Amino acid sequence: MKVWQKRFGQRENLPVIESFNASIDQDSFLYEEEIEVSLAYSRALAQANYLSPQELALIETGLEKVKARIKKGEALDRFEDIHSAVELMLVEEIGEVGGKLATGRSRNEQVATIERLYLKKKIPSIIDLIRKCQLSLIDQSEKYFDVVVPAFTHLRPAQYVLFSHYLMAYFWPLERAKSRLDEALRRLDKLPLGSGALAGSSIYLDREYLKKLLGFLSLTENSIDAVSDRSYLLEIAFDLSLLRLDLSRMAEDLIIFSTDEFGLIEISPEIQTSSSLMPQKKNPDILELLRASCGSIFGDVTNLFIILKGLPLSYNKDMQADKDPLKKMLAETEKVLEVLDLVIKGIKPAKRKLEKTIDYSLMATDLVDYLVQKGLPFRQAHRVVSEVINYAESKGEPLNCLSLDQMKQFSPLFSADVDLIFDPWFSITNKKTAGSTHPDQVKKQIELARQLLKRD
Ligand code: ARG
Repeated sequence: MKVWQKRFGQRENLPVIESFNASIDQDSFLYEEEIEVSLAYSRALAQANYLSPQELALIETGLEKVKARIKKGEALDRFEDIHSAVELMLVEEIGEVGGKLATGRSRNEQVATIERLYLKKKIPSIIDLIRKCQLSLIDQSEKYFDVVVPAFTHLRPAQYVLFSHYLMAYFWPLERAKSRLDEALRRLDKLPLGSGALAGSSIYLDREYLKKLLGFLSLTENSIDAVSDRSYLLEIAFDLSLLRLDLSRMAEDLIIFSTDEFGLIEISPEIQTSSSLMPQKKNPDILELLRASCGSIFGDVTNLFIILKGLPLSYNKDMQADKDPLKKMLAETEKVLEVLDLVIKGIKPAKRKLEKTIDYSLMATDLVDYLVQKGLPFRQAHRVVSEVINYAESKGEPLNCLSLDQMKQFSPLFSADVDLIFDPWFSITNKKTAGSTHPDQVKKQIELARQLLKRD
């Protein structure tokens, strides 16, 4: 059943073509937004005297009934899309007067409006889920504040840091994700309704009134742009992709650092699975799925780019293909964030192993700093310490086991206080810059993070 049937008289309906043209399977999830927009539109029509107060009341109750029917799960596959479904079901409810709702209105502007409305509803709940993960990260950072772990560059041990500093390194990408989504939300908060098919409407519609009814910040400025634009969707898709990219990196960290070989962290048993063959196995399947899940949204971004590439202004039916990415990217991101929060809550530092296996080579940079403090130029100090490391390696000794005399062969500046260096805690408390892993700085960082969350 279509809203434009008469144009082609008695032509044969080919089911394959009908279903290829239809988008009801992809866009029925937008029914609440479609009805909300229709309610607002009918009020604007009444305000402009295109509907009598009685007709408006009829349409309003009719739309509520349509909403209840769809909510109950009535099959909609006889309709072309959600716009036609609501319009035609309204006529089923209240008779031909329902057709007045379509006065001066085009699906081109409707679809752009309901998509924006949907994003306006959904993005704040994604931001809330991100905030939950951030809170869990802060709680974990406070809980394990005194734990020291090696941190890596090139996946080789580099320097010791506070475990909380490491955990908080995941907080900030999430903060950036929220701020990106916030900005994208502000940019998309414009109402296209009143743009007609592309040229605007010939009936007097108070768009400001529509804006107020639908809770938009402002109006789109150009009716052609309004029905052509999908940049708001791409922008959100990109922002969510970046978030999912960060989450996949985090998943990878947790996978690798929770192996027996690294043994730095423990993940909770609830997110592990075993093997159907090898009973000894504890596999991080959930983390692996998190790591892989960004592939799907990267595909959505590419899909949207390709749909829009080279499209002439204004509306083209190609744009109908944006519904699956819209729905999927939001639903998946919600799920991923819910899982991630549970993952974060279950992270523990593998303390015993950490305490047993101090890697003294990680203090090499502190040893360089020690010589620099004593007046040696940095490059020279770096050379001296490289020689000391080579020497220790040739002796098969860890760095801290060399005697003072042995060290003095490389520089007379080494004295008894060099022993202080061989302590991960010294290395950490010796950091002086803002944003470093010094415990005072990490405390500040956590405080700032908490304030930011409170301000949200
Ligand atoms: N279902 C369509 C979409 O999602 C609505 C717009 C159809 N407009 C048209 N002139 N065929 O894009």
